[in-house]
Amino acid sequence: MPTPVPQHCPTPRELDDLELLVHGALAPLTGFEPAGGLVTLHVPADVAEAAQAAGELELVDPEGLPLARVAVESTFDAGDTGETVGIAGPVTPLTHAEFGAFRRLYKSPGQVRADHGPETLTVPVTDALTLVDLDRIREKSGGDPVLLLALTGHGTPLLSPAALLRASLIAAQQLGGAHVVAVPLASRGDAEADHALGQRVVDAYAPGPVLGVTGEGDLGDEIAAVVEHDQPPVDGQGLVLFFTGLSGSGKSTLARALHDVILERGERTVTSLDGDVVRRNLSAGLTFSKEDRETNIRRIGWVAAEISRHGGVAICSPIAPFDTTRQQVRAMVDEAGGAFVLIHVATPLEECERRDRKGLYAKARAGEIPEFTGISSPYEEPADAAVRVDTTGRSIEDALDDVLDHLYDAGYLHRSTG
Ligand code: ADX
Repeated sequence: MPTPVPQHCPTPRELDDLELLVHGALAPLTGFEPAGGLVTLHVPADVAEAAQAAGELELVDPEGLPLARVAVESTFDAGDTGETVGIAGPVTPLTHAEFGAFRRLYKSPGQVRADHGPETLTVPVTDALTLVDLDRIREKSGGDPVLLLALTGHGTPLLSPAALLRASLIAAQQLGGAHVVAVPLASRGDAEADHALGQRVVDAYAPGPVLGVTGEGDLGDEIAAVVEHDQPPVDGQGLVLFFTGLSGSGKSTLARALHDVILERGERTVTSLDGDVVRRNLSAGLTFSKEDRETNIRRIGWVAAEISRHGGVAICSPIAPFDTTRQQVRAMVDEAGGAFVLIHVATPLEECERRDRKGLYAKARAGEIPEFTGISSPYEEPADAAVRVDTTGRSIEDALDDVLDHLYDAGYLHRSTG
């Protein structure tokens, strides 16, 4: 029996790279590069092992649709303590992505060059075009066709990809019928690398001269409205208030009090994701092993991120003892366009144990509850909390004020005028 080909869903950056590879936008490159390259693919160690055995790896989109196969030419240490392994080798496309906002605008350099002659002025954009830039484009093109190359890849545009394309389509109209092509050029998080790769990709697409934009000056009304809708002011942005701390530290109490304050103000919609409550529904059946706790927190993070995507407020109050999982939640929320505020309820273990409202610490000490946080399971203190409150000897109102002050100062909530 042939060895089965393992499947893997790459990161958003890698998915964008895959599309560029498949479109020939990185030619002469036809696959993922070995260590040291800019276009790399990292997979979990067990997936890499299975791929090596099969000689191939199938890449699927987040919904499981097979997109391409990578022939495993070599593997390399991805440099993150052996958890992931780099896979290099040529890519064979299976299916093209069919969905996604403005899918029809995603074209290959070959298609673009077939549709546009060498007189076409190509303008790469990562942000809405200002009136000044629109005038410069008119002047430089001198009536020749204009192609707006919207760089929508993960981490590249300053607006959401859909908003960049919406703004670019309006600009194209205002330029008297320019064309818009979307290119999923993702950021590597390194300015030099981004510049180098950006130039390669733009050169692959541009059939003629290229004009850079300045970003100077104001936006026209119609484009400004698109930007405003995409980037709401901070008091309308989705918000995740994430309380972390030991059992009995006062997280749930503070979270409930905050929930009430926000409800009473009536300015925002708010959802509570309390640790104990989530474990009774969304995470029913999970244990307190490290793995299950991580799953629990990622579920909470996923829901909270979706709430923030729609401009709502999510108040989470699980123990969330592990730093890496909290960072993952932060990243999920960030990705969804929400703001993430980590609140460390830093009441010391002695005080939590003294309160022992649920009698759990006594049971944990007696060995009746295994892996109890603070007793027989670790709690990693956050170094990235926006607010740190120790509730020892303080009233709820008093401790809550520390949290509210931060939210007011950062502009997330308005101070009550009453
Ligand atoms: S987390 O670690 O996954 O974030 P979560 O906040 O959902 O924990 O659940 C913590 C609550 O579960 C505590 O408030 C406590 O009531 C209860 N609990 C039961 N067993 C444990 C345990 N072994 N460690 C911590 N909390 C426990």
